[in-house]
Amino acid sequence: MDVIFENIKTRRSVREFTQQEIRKEDLKKIVEAGTWAPTARNQQTFRFTVISSREEIQKLAHILGEELGNSNYNFYCPAALVLVSNEKDAGTNPVADVACAMQNMFLQAHAMGIGSVWINQFKDLCDRPAVRTKLDEYGIPQHQVVWGACALGYAVQKVVEAPERRAVVRFID
Ligand SMILES: Cc1cc2nc3c(=O)[nH]c(=O)nc-3n(C[C@H](O)[C@H](O)[C@H](O)COP(=O)(O)O)c2cc1C
Repeated sequence: MDVIFENIKTRRSVREFTQQEIRKEDLKKIVEAGTWAPTARNQQTFRFTVISSREEIQKLAHILGEELGNSNYNFYCPAALVLVSNEKDAGTNPVADVACAMQNMFLQAHAMGIGSVWINQFKDLCDRPAVRTKLDEYGIPQHQVVWGACALGYAVQKVVEAPERRAVVRFID
Protein backbone atom coordinates (compact mmCIF):
# COMPACT_ATOMS: atom_id res chain seq x y z
CA MET A 1 0.00 0.00 0.00
CA ASP A 2 1.24 3.47 -0.82
CA VAL A 3 1.08 4.91 2.71
CA ILE A 4 2.14 8.42 1.78
CA PHE A 5 -0.53 8.77 -0.92
CA GLU A 6 -3.14 7.29 1.41
CA ASN A 7 -2.14 9.76 4.15
CA ILE A 8 -2.39 12.68 1.73
CA LYS A 9 -5.83 11.60 0.53
CA THR A 10 -7.38 10.89 3.93
CA ARG A 11 -6.23 14.08 5.73
CA ARG A 12 -9.12 16.48 6.35
CA SER A 13 -9.26 19.78 8.18
CA VAL A 14 -10.52 19.27 11.72
CA ARG A 15 -12.59 21.98 13.38
CA GLU A 16 -13.81 20.20 16.49
CA PHE A 17 -11.32 18.87 19.01
CA THR A 18 -11.60 16.73 22.14
CA GLN A 19 -10.09 17.69 25.51
CA GLN A 20 -7.28 15.14 25.04
CA GLU A 21 -3.82 16.70 25.22
CA ILE A 22 -1.06 15.97 22.74
CA ARG A 23 2.06 14.34 24.19
CA LYS A 24 5.07 16.65 24.07
CA GLU A 25 7.12 14.20 21.99
CA ASP A 26 4.30 13.94 19.42
CA LEU A 27 4.04 17.72 19.23
CA LYS A 28 7.80 17.98 18.79
CA LYS A 29 7.69 15.45 15.94
CA ILE A 30 4.91 17.33 14.14
CA VAL A 31 6.83 20.60 14.38
CA GLU A 32 10.06 18.91 13.35
CA ALA A 33 8.24 17.69 10.22
CA GLY A 34 7.49 21.36 9.53
CA THR A 35 11.14 22.27 9.81
CA TRP A 36 12.02 19.67 7.15
CA ALA A 37 9.95 21.48 4.52
CA PRO A 38 11.70 22.83 1.43
CA THR A 39 12.36 26.57 1.37
CA ALA A 40 13.24 28.91 -1.48
CA ARG A 41 17.03 29.11 -1.77
CA ASN A 42 17.11 26.97 1.37
CA GLN A 43 16.66 30.13 3.43
CA GLN A 44 14.95 28.42 6.39
CA THR A 45 13.98 31.81 7.79
CA PHE A 46 10.67 30.50 9.08
CA ARG A 47 10.06 30.23 12.79
CA PHE A 48 7.77 27.89 14.73
CA THR A 49 6.18 29.15 17.93
CA VAL A 50 4.43 26.29 19.68
CA ILE A 51 1.73 27.11 22.23
CA SER A 52 0.57 24.06 24.16
CA SER A 53 -1.28 25.78 27.00
CA ARG A 54 -5.01 25.87 26.26
CA GLU A 55 -5.29 28.88 28.52
CA GLU A 56 -2.64 30.79 26.57
CA ILE A 57 -4.23 29.78 23.23
CA GLN A 58 -7.55 31.22 24.40
CA LYS A 59 -5.87 34.42 25.63
CA LEU A 60 -4.43 34.82 22.15
CA ALA A 61 -7.78 33.99 20.54
CA HIS A 62 -9.38 36.67 22.66
CA ILE A 63 -6.90 39.27 21.38
CA LEU A 64 -7.59 38.30 17.75
CA GLY A 65 -11.32 38.13 18.44
CA GLU A 66 -11.26 41.73 19.70
CA GLU A 67 -9.64 42.80 16.43
CA LEU A 68 -12.12 40.75 14.39
CA GLY A 69 -15.12 41.95 16.36
CA ASN A 70 -15.94 38.35 17.24
CA SER A 71 -16.13 37.65 20.96
CA ASN A 72 -16.56 33.91 20.31
CA TYR A 73 -13.35 33.55 18.34
CA ASN A 74 -11.43 30.51 19.69
CA PHE A 75 -9.31 28.85 16.93
CA TYR A 76 -11.71 25.85 17.36
CA CYS A 77 -10.30 25.24 20.88
CA PRO A 78 -7.31 23.11 19.89
CA ALA A 79 -4.87 21.39 22.25
CA ALA A 80 -1.95 23.19 20.62
CA LEU A 81 -1.35 26.01 18.19
CA VAL A 82 1.79 26.42 16.08
CA LEU A 83 2.39 29.93 14.77
CA VAL A 84 4.53 29.77 11.64
CA SER A 85 6.11 33.15 10.99
CA ASN A 86 8.45 34.31 8.28
CA GLU A 87 9.84 37.49 6.77
CA LYS A 88 7.49 40.27 5.59
CA ASP A 89 9.35 40.79 2.31
CA ALA A 90 7.38 38.98 -0.42
CA GLY A 91 10.53 38.73 -2.52
CA THR A 92 11.87 36.04 -0.23
CA ASN A 93 8.88 33.71 -0.82
CA PRO A 94 7.84 33.68 2.84
CA VAL A 95 4.28 32.46 2.30
CA ALA A 96 5.25 29.61 0.01
CA ASP A 97 7.86 28.43 2.52
CA VAL A 98 5.33 28.58 5.36
CA ALA A 99 2.72 26.71 3.30
CA CYS A 100 5.18 23.86 2.67
CA ALA A 101 5.88 23.68 6.41
CA MET A 102 2.16 23.74 7.23
CA GLN A 103 1.40 20.84 4.91
CA ASN A 104 4.28 18.81 6.35
CA MET A 105 2.81 19.35 9.82
CA PHE A 106 -0.74 18.51 8.70
CA LEU A 107 0.41 15.25 7.13
CA GLN A 108 2.66 14.24 10.03
CA ALA A 109 -0.13 14.98 12.52
CA HIS A 110 -2.61 12.96 10.46
CA ALA A 111 -0.18 10.03 10.29
CA MET A 112 -0.14 10.09 14.11
CA GLY A 113 -3.95 10.24 14.43
CA ILE A 114 -3.93 13.95 15.31
CA GLY A 115 -6.23 16.43 13.57
CA SER A 116 -5.26 19.84 12.29
CA VAL A 117 -6.50 22.92 10.50
CA TRP A 118 -4.94 26.06 9.02
CA ILE A 119 -5.79 29.28 10.89
CA ASN A 120 -5.41 32.19 8.50
CA GLN A 121 -6.35 35.23 10.56
CA PHE A 122 -2.92 36.31 11.83
CA LYS A 123 -1.38 37.59 8.63
CA ASP A 124 -3.65 40.64 8.42
CA LEU A 125 -3.66 41.36 12.15
CA CYS A 126 -0.02 40.93 13.15
CA ASP A 127 0.76 44.62 13.24
CA ARG A 128 -2.27 45.64 15.26
CA PRO A 129 -0.67 46.85 18.50
CA ALA A 130 -2.42 44.38 20.80
CA VAL A 131 -1.48 41.41 18.58
CA ARG A 132 2.11 42.58 18.06
CA THR A 133 2.58 43.04 21.81
CA LYS A 134 1.65 39.39 22.30
CA LEU A 135 3.89 38.25 19.44
CA ASP A 136 6.74 40.28 21.01
CA GLU A 137 6.12 38.40 24.24
CA TYR A 138 6.55 35.13 22.29
CA GLY A 139 9.83 36.38 20.79
CA ILE A 140 8.51 36.61 17.24
CA PRO A 141 10.64 39.27 15.49
CA GLN A 142 8.88 42.44 14.32
CA HIS A 143 10.15 41.84 10.77
CA GLN A 144 8.16 38.62 10.62
CA VAL A 145 4.48 37.95 9.94
CA VAL A 146 2.58 34.89 11.16
CA TRP A 147 1.60 33.69 7.70
CA GLY A 148 -0.19 30.63 9.00
CA ALA A 149 -1.09 28.93 12.24
CA CYS A 150 -1.67 25.22 12.67
CA ALA A 151 -4.33 24.23 15.19
CA LEU A 152 -3.78 20.69 16.48
CA GLY A 153 -5.76 18.24 18.58
CA TYR A 154 -7.64 14.97 18.62
CA ALA A 155 -10.71 15.14 16.42
CA VAL A 156 -14.21 14.72 17.71
CA GLN A 157 -14.93 11.72 15.52
CA LYS A 158 -17.29 12.51 12.67
CA VAL A 159 -17.60 11.26 9.15
CA VAL A 160 -16.25 14.04 7.00
CA GLU A 161 -16.59 13.59 3.28
CA ALA A 162 -13.62 14.61 1.22
CA PRO A 163 -14.41 17.66 -0.90
CA GLU A 164 -14.60 16.84 -4.57
CA ARG A 165 -11.31 17.45 -6.47
CA ARG A 166 -11.85 20.38 -8.85
CA ALA A 167 -8.28 21.17 -9.86
CA VAL A 168 -7.57 21.11 -13.57
CA VAL A 169 -4.90 18.57 -14.47
CA ARG A 170 -3.69 18.44 -18.02
CA PHE A 171 -0.85 16.33 -19.34
CA ILE A 172 1.07 17.60 -22.32
CA ASP A 173 2.78 14.46 -23.61
C1 LIG B 1 -4.15 29.03 2.86
C2 LIG B 1 -5.25 28.34 3.62
C3 LIG B 1 -5.98 29.06 4.55
C4 LIG B 1 -6.99 28.45 5.28
N1 LIG B 1 -7.61 29.14 6.28
C5 LIG B 1 -8.51 28.53 7.07
C6 LIG B 1 -9.08 29.20 8.18
O1 LIG B 1 -8.74 30.33 8.50
N2 LIG B 1 -10.01 28.53 8.90
C7 LIG B 1 -10.41 27.26 8.59
O2 LIG B 1 -11.26 26.71 9.29
N3 LIG B 1 -9.85 26.57 7.56
C8 LIG B 1 -8.90 27.17 6.80
N4 LIG B 1 -8.31 26.48 5.78
C9 LIG B 1 -8.70 25.08 5.52
C10 LIG B 1 -9.52 24.95 4.24
O3 LIG B 1 -10.80 25.49 4.43
C11 LIG B 1 -9.59 23.45 3.86
O4 LIG B 1 -8.29 22.97 3.63
C12 LIG B 1 -10.47 23.21 2.64
O5 LIG B 1 -11.81 23.51 2.92
C13 LIG B 1 -10.39 21.77 2.14
O6 LIG B 1 -10.77 20.86 3.16
P1 LIG B 1 -9.77 19.72 3.68
O7 LIG B 1 -8.58 20.40 4.31
O8 LIG B 1 -10.57 18.94 4.66
O9 LIG B 1 -9.35 18.88 2.51
C14 LIG B 1 -7.29 27.07 5.05
C15 LIG B 1 -6.55 26.36 4.11
C16 LIG B 1 -5.54 26.97 3.43
C17 LIG B 1 -4.70 26.15 2.46
